[in-house]
Amino acid sequence: MSASLVTVSYIAATILFILSLGGLSNPETARRGNLYGIIGMSIAVLATVFGPSVTLATGLPWIVGAMVVGGSIGLIAARKVQMTQMPELVALMHSLVGLAACLVGFASYVDTSIVLTGAEKAIHELEIYVGIYIGAVTFSGSIIAFGKLSGKIGGKPVLLPARHVINGVAALVVIYFGYAFLQAHSIEAGMTPLIVMSVIGLLFGIHMVMAIGGADMPVVVSMLNSYSGWAAAATGFMLSNDLLIVVGALVGSSGAILSYIMCRAMNRNFVSVIAGGFGSGGGAPAKKSGGDAQPAGEVVSITAAETAELLREAKSVIIVPGYGMAVAQAQHAVYEITRLLREKGVNVRFGIHPVAGRMPGHMNVLLAEARVPYDIVMEMDEINDDFPDTDVAIVIGANDIVNPAAQEDPASPIAGMPVLEVWKAKTSIMMKRSMATGYAGVDNPLFYKDNNRMLFGDAKKVVEDVIKALA
Ligand code: TAP
Repeated sequence: MSASLVTVSYIAATILFILSLGGLSNPETARRGNLYGIIGMSIAVLATVFGPSVTLATGLPWIVGAMVVGGSIGLIAARKVQMTQMPELVALMHSLVGLAACLVGFASYVDTSIVLTGAEKAIHELEIYVGIYIGAVTFSGSIIAFGKLSGKIGGKPVLLPARHVINGVAALVVIYFGYAFLQAHSIEAGMTPLIVMSVIGLLFGIHMVMAIGGADMPVVVSMLNSYSGWAAAATGFMLSNDLLIVVGALVGSSGAILSYIMCRAMNRNFVSVIAGGFGSGGGAPAKKSGGDAQPAGEVVSITAAETAELLREAKSVIIVPGYGMAVAQAQHAVYEITRLLREKGVNVRFGIHPVAGRMPGHMNVLLAEARVPYDIVMEMDEINDDFPDTDVAIVIGANDIVNPAAQEDPASPIAGMPVLEVWKAKTSIMMKRSMATGYAGVDNPLFYKDNNRMLFGDAKKVVEDVIKALA
């Protein structure tokens, strides 16, 4: 493939990636967006592999072999993964982008075929240094995020004493060694600063994500997404591959925008989340709730038949789905109950919290899969004021996102986080299996409110029971 054909292919791939991002911003166009992304990536891979910079002598068989092995692993992983494990898989993939940036960085530093002098050499080495640092932070941070999302590492923040001082000193050491690296006159001399910086980057990634409280994980997930984009862009600079630079920048900037949106949705300050300490109740290790006392009030349970009775009387219902709906795979049953109630003339709508579930848009994807009409699926800001005029709010496997402690208890680890105010409805019904806490590990006073009822059981089974009773 000639160089000019490769350039044209890269431009086409870039346009397709931009169209893909545009498509993914709306559930109705998401499939098309995905398709654009797949076509764009196929063009990008083919143009790179069959372009002039890869020849039989420069390792084409190795590349094809690696693609077959990597592609097969990816295919098996993607087919096997449960929907609830998707965020872990994504975190693992981000870690691989970080690892790739580190490996490419070291490889291009020791590559003796690249002979540069003066400013060009300095710029190339700076790209290597920055690229490896971003890669190392992304790699170790994503591994810890994978551990936290999969439950292998506890969700509570681990806060080292004087962590801000540690972060500050680490930043200064990285800058100092960066200077030493750029001054080095041989590969051997430059290796020590490069390795020291890589170790600091790895430790910083671990420290940063370990310090994040459970409820703030969404910000970190989207931030690592952004880092993986910048790591890819840095790899593009090191390899002088324009497409990788553009695609990395697209992922990096869209991830950064997503992090900003997440922070706004969670009422968090971006810098404070990154520095750690949020989700910890103001710097102390996370407690189950702000105060030690059990919330006032009594827990009242309800049966499926009684729930059906309440729904029969209702004119307006808001359903708030959460992570438990994904675990129970209850979305099809939820669609059924929605259809049944709408047929009876009940105004049924959905309230979606921006961080419901374990990944951005998690609930929207599940509801779309079950064919719930988009026009009754509302964002939190669109529907929160409507709870006082609602007869029944049904909370299906959600917990943190409907926790009134966020508003009522300034000492709570989730204080200040906007939540869906289901307790303002005439009756709220919590469908979950037990009195257990949600992801943030915080007690929920909603269970004890006078107008709240607990419908215990697996979400799918319970919704199906209510459907039977309603029918
Ligand atoms: P959670 O607060 O995690 O609560 C989910 C609840 O579902 C649990 O309390 C659990 O209680 C219940 N549950 C689990 N399996 C169930 C089943 N089979 N049937 C019925 N109920 C079941 O979820 P949420 O309210 O959606 O909030 C999301 C949390 O995850 C937030 O803290 C958020 O910050 C965090 N997070 C979000 C993201 C993104 S991007 N969305 C990423 C990482 C972390 P039982 O065990 O008693 O059933």
